[in-house]
Amino acid sequence: MSLKNAATAVRDNAHAPYSNFKVGAAIRSISGNVYAGCNVENAAYPEGTCAEAGAIAAMVAAGETELVEVYVIADCPSPIPPCGGCRQKLAEFGATDVAVTMATLTGKEQTATIGDLLPGGFGADFLDRP
Ligand code: THU
Repeated sequence: MSLKNAATAVRDNAHAPYSNFKVGAAIRSISGNVYAGCNVENAAYPEGTCAEAGAIAAMVAAGETELVEVYVIADCPSPIPPCGGCRQKLAEFGATDVAVTMATLTGKEQTATIGDLLPGGFGADFLDRP
């Protein structure tokens, strides 16, 4: 299945009764598998999770830790940019040159790399100790 189709389909299952803003995300792992996730809100607002986090969790739960392509879609006027926290999560599992396609329900798309989205990001390299 294409990432666009997977992200669009999973978006329908988003649980977003508080924001009324449904998001779908799909990622392709290095093995070629596709993992999808949607945002899942709850009554304690800050405890909700983003679509990208759900897709990443599905990939990791399946035993994979490298993503090579990302697609995110929502019903907004211009292509949805991943939030700051999701940029950090994507950077944990994807190289800086991995393409992230951001999309609207009306067919507008914009693509940036993970490095574009999180320039100068904090990563595992900084945890190295002499
Ligand atoms: N949301 C995502 O799922 N991904 C993003 O990158 C941006 C925001 C969700 C979180 C919340 O459920 C809703 O969109 C409104 O912020």
